[in-house]
Amino acid sequence: MRSLTEREHNVIFQTYKRLPIEIASASGCRITATNGAVYLDFLGGIAVNALGHSHPHVVQNVIDQAQRYMHVSNFFYQEPQIRLAELLCEASGYQRVFFTNSGAEATDGAIKMARRYGSKAARTDVIGFTGGFHGRTYGALSIMDKPLYKEGMGPFLPNTLVLPYNSVDAITSHVNANTCAIMLEFVQGEGGLRDATPEFVDALVVAQRDHGVLIIADEVQAGIGRTGTFFSFERYNIKPDIVICAKAMGGGLPLGAMLATEEAAALFDRGMHGTTYGGNAVACAAGIAVLEEVRDGLMEHVRHIGSYLHTRLLEVQRKHPSVVLEIRGRGCMQGVVLSVDAAPFVQALLERGVIANATAGTVIRLVPPYIITEADVDAFVAALSDVVAKP
Ligand SMILES: Cc1ncc(COP(=O)(O)O)c(C=O)c1O
Repeated sequence: MRSLTEREHNVIFQTYKRLPIEIASASGCRITATNGAVYLDFLGGIAVNALGHSHPHVVQNVIDQAQRYMHVSNFFYQEPQIRLAELLCEASGYQRVFFTNSGAEATDGAIKMARRYGSKAARTDVIGFTGGFHGRTYGALSIMDKPLYKEGMGPFLPNTLVLPYNSVDAITSHVNANTCAIMLEFVQGEGGLRDATPEFVDALVVAQRDHGVLIIADEVQAGIGRTGTFFSFERYNIKPDIVICAKAMGGGLPLGAMLATEEAAALFDRGMHGTTYGGNAVACAAGIAVLEEVRDGLMEHVRHIGSYLHTRLLEVQRKHPSVVLEIRGRGCMQGVVLSVDAAPFVQALLERGVIANATAGTVIRLVPPYIITEADVDAFVAALSDVVAKP
């Protein structure tokens, strides 16, 4: 029989650089390959599997909902969608939710809201930042700077700017009466786990308060409790007008959302924005399980296990300061910054049965399920210590 690898090469667009693992099953924080190898998963489906793989609460909700009905469309009032929106509003303090299928779709919806806002005041400019990642749609790419993602695909949206992340000067000199919105990640996931500096966030607050600029927080990767607070921006003194989320929210099913204040949500009138699948009943049922677990103690666990992970990673750094330069991030979103290319280290970790990924060239990104235990952290740290000692 031909392997999955061979068959994939024949029929799938060759856009993904896949790991050499053919999946048999996954449960909790472990992935089992068809050859029987078992891996410790510190990638969590790229920050998706907050409750781990096939968590019983998610599975039960999905089965129950699939048996009731799966899809009826947004022509109807539906319990799972409305309940999930209530949980999101309770957890976040926002008043309104629009469900999407993905993070990128939420990004584009937020940019459309920004332009609606701008159209009333003759403002057009939407600002993003270097190192940011917001998805692969035209709206998202228009406010991102990574050349590989944009090569030969222009022209992009007009009146968009990509400014240097964490540059107060850039905000001061580019935000003006023409600016309608600024979108950012308060901790850049793909950009190497970089935090927004407090001074930079202060400049955003000035733009919002004194210049009427909408602030859009991209919490697709960092949101839903991953950093130990429901949203990562809660560490700062800012309340964004619009928040987008996805990934962890769907418990493994495709689901995203825009959350907004009452005022911002009113920018869309009936019929102005929509999607066939967004808020799908089964995806929302899975999301309810995630939100309930996060509400009922899991976020405290993220804080505890995150600080344990951080402490253990700092020990590795102290032992190998010439290879490990810095430990970034918090909760279940941390980065090990190396002095060299991270890719060979990620490969070496894989050979020791641990899945992580390399981002921003020299950073090993850790976005494990929230349910990891101290024993899982110890197993990861043992593998990491081994590879940094003899890569
Ligand atoms: C911060 C951030 N925003 C947006 C996206 C895009 O989400 P999706 O891949 O679901 O379109 C991602 C995906 O990695 C992300 O990390």
